[in-house]
Amino acid sequence: MNAATPPLPIVILISGRGSNLQAIIDAVASDKLPVEIRAVISNRPEAIGLQRAAQAGIPTAVIDHSLYTDRAAFDQALLECIEHFQPGLVVLAGFMRILTAGFVHYYQGRMLNIHPSLLPDFPGLHTLQQALESGCKQHGASIHFVTEAVDGGPVVLQARVPVYQQDTVTALAARVLEQEHHLYPLAIRWFAEQRLRLDSTGHAVLDDKVLTEPVTFTLESGALC
Ligand code: GRF
Repeated sequence: MNAATPPLPIVILISGRGSNLQAIIDAVASDKLPVEIRAVISNRPEAIGLQRAAQAGIPTAVIDHSLYTDRAAFDQALLECIEHFQPGLVVLAGFMRILTAGFVHYYQGRMLNIHPSLLPDFPGLHTLQQALESGCKQHGASIHFVTEAVDGGPVVLQARVPVYQQDTVTALAARVLEQEHHLYPLAIRWFAEQRLRLDSTGHAVLDDKVLTEPVTFTLESGALC
């Protein structure tokens, strides 16, 4: 890591458990991720992830979606809260709200999401259940830039896991989550090191090469934690 480059300020949005948040916190704490987590914001006051952030000494905020009459008003409040922390990147880590086009445009090229499937397969909710019902032999997780299409932005990084014949949602979820915890710190690191960006035509670019397909993550290829 280049000691002369200041860490990239980021804000992380969550809705619940926050295990991906924890993986990011841990990667920063062990000096493997050159970012400063300026704040963790949840749309749910009861999100366990808020406790993880507080424990790590990271400022937290709650913008409770249930207190807003419509999506636009919620997104405006969320945006104002985020802007207070001036992030260079917004990280959606289990943030379970669909965002308005205006919000997405504002953070175009500066917002990443993690999704528990091999996108474009199984966007939306209940991906693990859908995967099991489909009979697919492989599942996984994806990191992508956020665009207006829900779970439809350019995919940057994916990890694959096997699906076994007697699999349950719980077992598959655990297998996928383990990979997620490697994926997010790595993709954020690429962005922080200015190796990863979204170009003006909407393509993800890594190390000056347009990604025609996502990078496949394996433990051997570059785990940070
Ligand atoms: C993860 O499976 C992530 O892919 C999805 O929501 C889940 C969040 O888990 N978007 P956690 O809150 O990070 O533990």
